[in-house]
Formats: sequence, C-alpha cells, structure tokens
Amino acid sequence: MLTYEEAHNRAAEFGQGHLFQFWGQLNEAERGALLSDISEIDFPLMRRLIAHWVLSEPEPERFEHIAPVPVIPLNAPDSAEAWAAGEDALRAGRVGLFLVAGGQGTRLGFNGPKGAYPIGPLTGKSLFQYHAEKIRNLRRRYGCILPWYIMVSDANAEETSVYFEQHDFFGLGREHIRFLRQRMVPCVDLAGRFLLEAKDRLAMNPNGHGGCIPAMVESGVLEDARERGVDLLSYFQVDNWAVKVADPRFIGYHVLRGAEMSSKNHRKNSPREAVGVHCLCDGRYQVIEYSELDLYPQLLETDERGDVVYYAGNPAIHILSVDFVQQVYDHFEAFPWHRAFKKIPFVDESGALVKPDAPNGYKFETFVFDALQIIGHAPVAVEIQREGEYTPTKQFEGDNSVVAARRSMASLWSKWLEATGAKPPRQADGSSAIAIEISPAFALDEKEFVTNSLGHDWPIDTDLAIGAAGEIERAAPAAQTS
Ligand code: UD1
Repeated sequence: MLTYEEAHNRAAEFGQGHLFQFWGQLNEAERGALLSDISEIDFPLMRRLIAHWVLSEPEPERFEHIAPVPVIPLNAPDSAEAWAAGEDALRAGRVGLFLVAGGQGTRLGFNGPKGAYPIGPLTGKSLFQYHAEKIRNLRRRYGCILPWYIMVSDANAEETSVYFEQHDFFGLGREHIRFLRQRMVPCVDLAGRFLLEAKDRLAMNPNGHGGCIPAMVESGVLEDARERGVDLLSYFQVDNWAVKVADPRFIGYHVLRGAEMSSKNHRKNSPREAVGVHCLCDGRYQVIEYSELDLYPQLLETDERGDVVYYAGNPAIHILSVDFVQQVYDHFEAFPWHRAFKKIPFVDESGALVKPDAPNGYKFETFVFDALQIIGHAPVAVEIQREGEYTPTKQFEGDNSVVAARRSMASLWSKWLEATGAKPPRQADGSSAIAIEISPAFALDEKEFVTNSLGHDWPIDTDLAIGAAGEIERAAPAAQTS
C-alpha cells in the first residue's frame, strides 16, 4: 500500500489532489481506508480513459459492413460428433468452470451477492446452488473434477465466501473452488475528477467482466488451471439458473474447430431485446451491446415474417482456451473500455452526501466478449434453444425476471414429467398450473430425467430431486414404482 506521501504525490500529479480534502478530519482507520483505495488505482490508465471518454466526445466506432455472424444451428449434422468430442475433453479433465459473479446486481434489489438469490420456487435454493448441483451431476457422469473459479469484486467478495462456507461448498470440496477478485475503477464526474462516496472512500465500481482476464492471471487461477491439466474454461454468468455449464456439444465444437474463444447465441425475440448481438463488423467477430443498438439501425431490422435479421442474441456463455486468456492478458493495455453515464452518490465540498436524481458521472467497464475481436480463427457461434438454457434474472418481475425464470422452470419441467407419462396440471392456456422443481444433481436434461425417474417415487425429499407444489397424476406405471 502507498504511504501518505506517495499517494498524495501520485494523486496531485494526475490532477486528483482533492481526494485528500478531508484528510485532516480522518482518524487512523479512515486514513488507511483512503490510502488503500488510492493504492489500487491505475492512474495512467485513468488519465487515458478520462482524456478519451470525458474530456472529449469520441465518435462511435463506424463499420463499413455489418453482417450477422455465421451460426452453427441447433440441428447441425455434425452435432453428434461435437458432443462426443466434448465428452472426451470432459473425461480427460481438460475443462474448468469460470463464473462471473462480481456485478453489483442493483436491478434485482437483493441485499447480498446475486448468486445467493433464492431462485428455487419450492426449496428457495440459490443460483449458486443450482450451478453447484449441475457440477455434481457432471462429475458423476464424466468422472472429472471441474474446478470452479468464481470471480467476485469488492462489492461482494466477503459475503460470497461466507455464503459458500455456510453451505460447506455444496459438497464440492473447498479445494476445487477458488474465488478471485476483480479490480475496481474510480467513478469520475463530468470534469474528470474522481468522486468520493465518503470522506475516506472513493466511489468505485468493478472493472466489468472483462476484468476476469487480468484477474485470472494475477490471482494465479490460470496457473492453477494449467497445473490441473485444464486447458478449456466454460464461462457463464451467475444470474442464469438454466445455463448448461460445461456443455459437451459446445466444448466439442470449440475443440474440433481449434477455437480460442467460442460463444453461444440464441434467437432474439424482438429487435430491442436487452441482449448483445453477435455480428461480423468489417469481417471481425464482435458483440454489439444492446445499449448501442441505435448506433447501428440495421440491427433493428426485421424480415417479411417479422423475425429479427440480426438474430444472434448474446446469452454471455463462452468457452475460453487457457492459452488465449494469457494472450489477451499480454496485450491487455489495448483492450477496449466502455463508459456508462450514471447517477453516482458523492460527498460535496462540505462533506455532505449527495444522492443525485440525474446522471452526474461516468463508470468505466471492460466486456469479456471484446476478446472475440482478436480471435485468429473463424467464429464458433453455437445456437441454443432459449428454454432450458437461457433464463437470466435481472429483476424481480417483467422480462428476464425471477417470476419469468420460475415460470420457465415450470414449463420445462412439466414437459420432462410428461415424458415419464405423468400428467402435471396445466392452466387453460397450456401453462403449468403448479410450481415444479427438479434438482440438476438428479437430471440435467429430459433423457436423464426419464431414465433416473424409473424406479423412484416422487416427490423425493433428499435434495428435492423432484418436487411439485400440488398433486400430479401419474399415468405411466413405469415412472411411478419405487
Ligand atoms: C449482459 C451482457 C449482454 C448479454 C446479457 C445476457 C454486458 C455488458 N452485457 O448484460 O450482452 O446479452 O448479459 O444476460 O455484460 N459482472 C461481473 N463483474 C462486473 C460486471 C458484471 O462479474 O464488473 C457479472 C455479473 O455478476 C453478471 C454478468 O457479469 O453475472 C453480467 O452483468 P449484468 O449487469 O447482468 O449484464 P447485462 O447488462 O444484463
């Protein structure tokens, strides 16, 4: 950590001397907190970001030619081959899991790490637990460990590790779960001055999920992966309970095509759906973020059937090769940054806390999908079906919400139950009339569910392998016997 003199000189040199304006009023602990925040700042980087994004108005990137990315469709003829190659990689222990869970989750309004959100409609099981139960299942299937790397930030690091301790690491073994902390970046006002959120603390935000690249290298996670013989990382977001972690088909395509980074995509359901879009921009693979759609009006086009032309939505599911992460890290100074204009609470000159009701400053972030711009191979963009794979929880109600996620669980799992011959009750409009929950440790897909249901009666209490908030008529004798 920097000393007072070092921190003071550094801040003054970069035009941020006001950070010390309350120094005389701070006690020892508060002074330590301020010095710790300042020590973390990459001042030359911040000077570059402020000059580019705040003190001038940069032109948005313009492309001569934007085209939809070529997609490997759901029913591609080589999907069985891809599946087999993915299973081989899993059995060989080549796959690790990388979860980004460092975001602030403000939209969900949940007081705690987003991964601890009790998404299970019957059990109250958290998002973290859903992911953990998938890992248990895959370990059983493939006899591999699947080390789990979880990126957290200052906003939730402490609470996340306590949460895992309290749940005994979901039985996966603490030695196979590793947390890594992403860096924080200062928020700045319209004049490019860092904001203080308290007299002894800077207003800062996590450096975006692109921050996983330096975090993986600098925390030793990449090294840990190499030592375990892991060369492929299955990357996913914490808020999507349905994500297929370490999906053999996806891993298989990545391996067979010699890819460095691959992505999944799903069909957008409307031009303005709040997802990034996978495109080829002047021949380069790029995800255009939903906040930038208006810069590229063609991305809002629909065809004569009303389908979105640039349909490849970004569910934020990738595979990254370990060597590629290192390569991106080695040139990370050239990695793109993005800015967001936000309402940022700050203390004013008098030391009073101000909560602005309009945006007053900028947050800076990096996005992991920008790494796709530098891949050296043809895009590997694999289409997925939304149901059973992409149901993010960004808010409580409405699109991409907790309510919608639970509805999708009932919809998916009632079909699985029906495949065993059971008759879960449905409403007049065909939707499920009851809440249903099936543990991913019990089954990850319909086929496995049907197989595992034979010989079991349900509901099965242990782990709530199968549970329903109501009676289900069981018609097929084979599925009922215990
Ligand atoms: C994100 C994607 C969007 C995609 C959508 C799919 C971005 C910029 N956009 O949108 O293209 O279609 O998800 O659901 O990400 N996170 C960190 N550290 C950070 C910031 C975020 O770990 O500094 C993690 C969050 O914990 C979360 C994920 O990244 O798991 C995505 O963040 P979120 O704010 O939910 O992204 P969206 O704007 O919804």
